[in-house]
Amino acid sequence: MFQAPRGTEDIRPEDQTTWRHIEKTITSFCRRYCFRRIDTPVFEDTRLFVRTVGEATDIVQKEMYTFKDRGGSEFTLRPEGTAPVCRAYIEHGMQNLPQPVKLYYFATIYRYERPQAGRYREHHQFGAEAIGDGDPALDAEVIDMAWGLFKALGLAKLTLQLNSIGCKQCRPAYLAKLVEYYQSRTSSLCEDCKTRATRNPLRLLDCKNAGCQAAAEDSPRSFDYLCPECHEHFERLKKYLGIMGIPFALNHRLVRGLDYYTKTVFEIQPEESGGQATLGGGGRYDDLIEELGGRPTPAVGFATGLERIVQNMKKQNLAPARTEGVDIFIAPIGDEDKLAALKLLADLRQKGFSVMLASGEKSLKAQMRQANAFSARQVVIIGEEELKAASVLLKDMARGGQGAVSMSELSSVLSARLKTEVKS
Ligand code: HAM
Repeated sequence: MFQAPRGTEDIRPEDQTTWRHIEKTITSFCRRYCFRRIDTPVFEDTRLFVRTVGEATDIVQKEMYTFKDRGGSEFTLRPEGTAPVCRAYIEHGMQNLPQPVKLYYFATIYRYERPQAGRYREHHQFGAEAIGDGDPALDAEVIDMAWGLFKALGLAKLTLQLNSIGCKQCRPAYLAKLVEYYQSRTSSLCEDCKTRATRNPLRLLDCKNAGCQAAAEDSPRSFDYLCPECHEHFERLKKYLGIMGIPFALNHRLVRGLDYYTKTVFEIQPEESGGQATLGGGGRYDDLIEELGGRPTPAVGFATGLERIVQNMKKQNLAPARTEGVDIFIAPIGDEDKLAALKLLADLRQKGFSVMLASGEKSLKAQMRQANAFSARQVVIIGEEELKAASVLLKDMARGGQGAVSMSELSSVLSARLKTEVKS
């Protein structure tokens, strides 16, 4: 028997109401915050991700789905959405549009991770990128959108963690301090961190290993080593968040798993935090577009995993009520009534109703059992007698009772009972 590949999931019909509700809420936020939708391909040139996400990151080292196509070109299923959007920004000359260019996407993301609750090999992301403006007010706006979105979905007990990891100018001095700090502590580090200490020292700070966490707690803090420009940016951002009423906690260990960030980094965590619990995260990436061959262009963005939103909404009993069951079920009594039933089926659907026709050649009793099994709200019974009188027998399954209704009045009666707006 085939099964969905490990780390992937089907989104079954019973969960679609929740997914659509989340997408609708997000789309409404994007409209209000003036973000426009962009869709990029599922796969891109591998080098796009190696260059931006970073050669020493877990994503590039261990998690990419990379393949050669039949023409010999090397591609990778997107392991994140920011680099493809920046590639599109440059490719389509969006630097010539009024800045900032604000783009959002819904995209499937592929990472070969160890699957566990909330961590998949294919997941769905909503992401938003504001490109072409370095103002900390834009960082605040992106954070405000992320925060407001989770609130609008009803999610409670969230924390916003904030850090600034500086820029090309100030980070080297900070990294030197960090490496020096860790030199006397290598014995307490895990094997991975021993190599990180030379290859990617920032990542020492967010290792989940207990010994590494203890060492990270007292480590030098990046926001104490910012150059005047980064310092000013961070101070203003904190002030703006304060004015906007968004509570945040400074976390000097927050460094994110992608190398392109500069200055601001943030994450939104639910109450029970942990690696695979983070609801969303993002930050500024002022060098990424230039790295890809574009003009120097500051930018800021964030992304959230839709599976994690669904999971948290279920945990907090916030999943919207599902509307299940069929509105109208048509039951023709005899074989010859089926023609009239098919005509009525088409007519009601054309008017906007949700309608199902009994299948097969069943007795009326069996058809009623089928209607019940599909939780039909209204059943239209069509028989010889009724057809002669240009009427049908309408059975109200929700409230009980049945009676003859003329064909000409049927749609208005159904519309009143089902509160469906009828198209003329
Ligand atoms: P990220 O933190 O790697 O950032 O992913 C964003 C969100 O996607 C996470 O906070 C989490 O909710 C979800 N997520 C990540 N990996 C998985 C997984 N394996 N299974 C389920 N959900 C997952 C980025 O990807 C950046 N591109 C965000 C960004 C946009 N930064 C600036 N702009």
